[in-house]
Amino acid sequence: MTKQVNDQGGIRMNNFNYFTPTKVVFGKDTQMQAGSLCREFGATKVLIHYGGGSAVRSGLIGQVKESLDEAGVAHVELGGVKPNPRLSLCREGIELCRKEGVDFILAVGGGSVIDSSKCIGYGLANEGDVWDFYCQKRTATACAPIGAVLTIAAAGSEMSNSCVITNEDGWFKRGTKTDYCRCKFAILNPELTYTLPDYQTQCGCVDIMMHIMERYFTKTEDTMLIDGMAESVLRTVKTNALILHENPEDYDARAQVMWAGSLAHNGLLGCGMEEDWATHQLEHELSGMFDVAHGAGLAALWGSWARYVIDEKPQRFAQFAVQVMGIPATGGDPKRTGLLGIRAMEEFIRSVGMPTNIRELGYELTDEEIRKLASKCAARKGGKIGGFRKLGEEDMVRIYEMAR
Ligand code: NZQ
Ligand code: ZN
Repeated sequence: MTKQVNDQGGIRMNNFNYFTPTKVVFGKDTQMQAGSLCREFGATKVLIHYGGGSAVRSGLIGQVKESLDEAGVAHVELGGVKPNPRLSLCREGIELCRKEGVDFILAVGGGSVIDSSKCIGYGLANEGDVWDFYCQKRTATACAPIGAVLTIAAAGSEMSNSCVITNEDGWFKRGTKTDYCRCKFAILNPELTYTLPDYQTQCGCVDIMMHIMERYFTKTEDTMLIDGMAESVLRTVKTNALILHENPEDYDARAQVMWAGSLAHNGLLGCGMEEDWATHQLEHELSGMFDVAHGAGLAALWGSWARYVIDEKPQRFAQFAVQVMGIPATGGDPKRTGLLGIRAMEEFIRSVGMPTNIRELGYELTDEEIRKLASKCAARKGGKIGGFRKLGEEDMVRIYEMAR
């Protein structure tokens, strides 16, 4: 697309489409509407897809089945989705759905379960090998309908157009984006997240903030409306992450974070902006190779990315420092203020028990591993990542080195 330029030579808001077709059903006990919602969206036989067992132990799977039975919707189930969901289970799911005549997939879990469901949905609705869509060989032209009962506020997959899958053959973690996979409905009951370990809660909060920041750190000018919304959601998540670190069963804090998680990644906070996503690309290589939790991986990388790119537009980092991190506006050197903001963000990350470098994440990377991470990342993105500053393979190596 041709960039539009304003009177000062800055990049103007791009033209955009905003499409968020997901029906959100928010609040206490809403999981009991799963059956009627599946029926509303035409389901006759549902695959209930879930993770490693938390949703069984909490009784949620039982409640979902009860609700489907009440609505007269038949169902089969497939559990076992791992964080960083694996392609092999998706293939199993596709086969099961074909055999059972499933026409709707109900994801009960977090981003991993929803993404695994989206991959099954792609496999069901398209011929050929579903992995083709993740290595950009082909583009999906349809997806079987999906609904979600969310159990962790984090990835935002319940409203996003994105789906990230790990192929164990080579440990390639790859994403694909189309509007076909957007959930028909998302049930968001904050109480379902009470059972999360603090580590997972905080991984989620970091991921939510990063989804906003990957859009916020932009070269696009004239973004006052979105900036205000983005800064408000960032402050909200930061404040409530600290509350949940002390009290995981604070309903109001869970509710704020849960809704923030969906708004952070449904496209709203990036309308018209040139987005970045470099930290996510670098992290996907890290979690592809070492199977770390996505949010913790982002936390370990962000500060290094930020220091590496700040000179591109220090004013943007100064705005983040003042509006989100509460650093006093001095009107002086924007880079100095920006650096204080980066430091404050890292202090926040540490205060909720998240890592700010790869060592704190639990890994001592060798030079060879860093080279491999960077070359895998560069290879899949045509050599360059990032919108705020374009980064080549050598830049990626430098950022991994700074973060180790
Ligand atoms: O498997 P179970 O037993 O359910 O345990 C899960 C899992 O171990 C646990 N958990 C979830 N809800 C729980 C709970 N434990 C207790 N009580 C609950 N209520 O939490 C662990 C993490 O779950 P996961 O689904 O992996 O978390 P998240 O939502 O962070 O998803 C991460 C995946 O999403 C991808 C990530 O790369 C990663 O693969 N992303 C997907 C995106 C998208 N589709 O739009 C965007 C993101 O940037 C991200 O890349
Ligand atoms: Zn993310």
